[in-house]
Amino acid sequence: MTMVLEVDKIQTYYGKSHILDGVSLSVGEGELVALLGRNGAGKTTTMRSVMGLTPPRQGTIRFCGKDVTGAPPHRMAAAGVGYVPEGRKIFGHLTVHENLLVARETHGPWTIDAVYKLFPRLLERRTSKGGRLSGGEQEMLAIGRALLLNPKLLILDEPSQGLAPIIVQEVMRTVGRMKSEGISVLLVEQNAFLALQLADRAYVLGEGEVVYEGSATELAADTKRMEQLAGVSHAA
Ligand SMILES: Nc1ncnc2c1ncn2[C@@H]1O[C@H](COP(=O)(O)OP(=O)(O)OP(=O)(O)O)[C@@H](O)[C@H]1O
Ligand SMILES: [Mg+2]
Repeated sequence: MTMVLEVDKIQTYYGKSHILDGVSLSVGEGELVALLGRNGAGKTTTMRSVMGLTPPRQGTIRFCGKDVTGAPPHRMAAAGVGYVPEGRKIFGHLTVHENLLVARETHGPWTIDAVYKLFPRLLERRTSKGGRLSGGEQEMLAIGRALLLNPKLLILDEPSQGLAPIIVQEVMRTVGRMKSEGISVLLVEQNAFLALQLADRAYVLGEGEVVYEGSATELAADTKRMEQLAGVSHAA
């Protein structure tokens, strides 16, 4: 399989705090990979390392075969990595449409019209301020904005966080659709059951290290490990 993302033994710090200790993971072309783990395990830090927001001090990050270790976030975005951060970070004072206009449209199938087609709810809400959207609508807007980059890889940090169960299902269906659109996905989730329904492969982080790596079905069948993960996840 051709690898889109290859993270190799990264060491990442916040100041003096050593957070990631030799994390390695990969995402293949068209693959949906789940990154799971308890609160504070280092999931967000791994995403931030990849995006160049908190570059690793050691180790390498390759994107589509190129060494991009330490590349700043705008370079990563331009190279084709769409990132939907924890908490979504949409502009609350701008309308839905303005939020989409802010993202630079790039050459490819994902245009603002295509985003509205994917999420008809956003079209209905196009003149509403971002800050007045529901959590699910905000997530759709954040994903839509990332799609306008026509990414090869989409990195989603806990898209289900704070959403009502029925909306979670809808957002997860969308994440699954990304895969059928040919986009590789790295999905960070605390809700392991949910993520493993979609994922091809999974990694589990524990205190800055990969403690498990395998197929999604294999992990889903590992009752003991699933209980450890579920014990701290949000209610499904
Ligand atoms: N800006 C920061 N400065 C110092 N330490 C931080 C910072 N951000 C996170 N940490 C620490 O790094 C560790 C990993 O945090 P991270 O946010 O990557 O975890 P996570 O797996 O995403 O957790 P969650 O499921 O709660 O989002 C935690 O111990 C956290 O306290
Ligand atoms: Mg996090």
